[in-house]
Amino acid sequence: MEIYAVRIRDMCLKEVNNICSSFSSEKKYTLEKYTNKLDRIRSLLGELLIRTVAINRLRIDNNSLTFDKNQFGKPFLKGYPKFHFNISHSGDYVVCAISNSLIGIDIEKINQIDYEAIAKDFFSSPEYLYITQNDKHNNLKKFYNIWTLKESFIKCCGIGLSMPLDTFTIIKNHNHIRVASAKGEFKTRYYFKLFDIDREYKLAVCSLDRTFPEKVTLINQESLITNYYNLVSNGGLA
Ligand code: COA
Ligand code: MG
Repeated sequence: MEIYAVRIRDMCLKEVNNICSSFSSEKKYTLEKYTNKLDRIRSLLGELLIRTVAINRLRIDNNSLTFDKNQFGKPFLKGYPKFHFNISHSGDYVVCAISNSLIGIDIEKINQIDYEAIAKDFFSSPEYLYITQNDKHNNLKKFYNIWTLKESFIKCCGIGLSMPLDTFTIIKNHNHIRVASAKGEFKTRYYFKLFDIDREYKLAVCSLDRTFPEKVTLINQESLITNYYNLVSNGGLA
């Protein structure tokens, strides 16, 4: 398993559009739907990240990469069923996880939100209790831990919010994290890990693969873009 993060820096629209021109018409259309420039940059960097990793790992050229989505919108690489990946973006970060098994990743910027109301309305009762009981000054962090872990789980399963958030429970006991069904049965195939990349963010990964790296690999945005241009101009291979 590999996990990468890019810290986003602003780019001029011309450069964004220039990179977009090397993508498929479908991806171009998706990116153009983002009227907010930062949203467009986030999605663009996610695409660059996954293309660069796939090209290097699979030794195929850029033009051979065709992405598709399952019925719930989870992207996958066509023709490579053992190449699993997932992307998430929030605030100043784009992150991506790659594995030989199903995987989901979620990053969230910590905001001062009404976590108690959200947890009450959307999370399971044991999660609500875990977040709100004891240790008051850590409640917001506990909320974001549970949020990102829950979202990494639904993104790993790939079925999005068609899986109601209160139908499963994340149980976190220090670094031992598990998921249970509403009936309390543990889903033992799923492994979780929380990563610290920035104290203003929470990052969680869920996978059927338990070989988590120690750390997230940080990639500089300029290097990612330069490397991508090189890959494209070389026909795709590094
Ligand atoms: N399963 C897994 N990954 C998916 C997916 C799915 N069904 N649908 C989209 N994705 C991928 C895409 O690569 C997408 O990137 P793109 O928009 O650039 O193509 C990426 O996930 C977006 O993930 P993230 O940045 O974490 O976005 P999100 O948190 O807004 O939404 C969803 C994630 C789309 C998968 C979905 O779970 C959702 O709408 N969540 C809402 C968030 C929420 O209510 N969370 C409650 C707390 S648990
Ligand atoms: Mg998210």
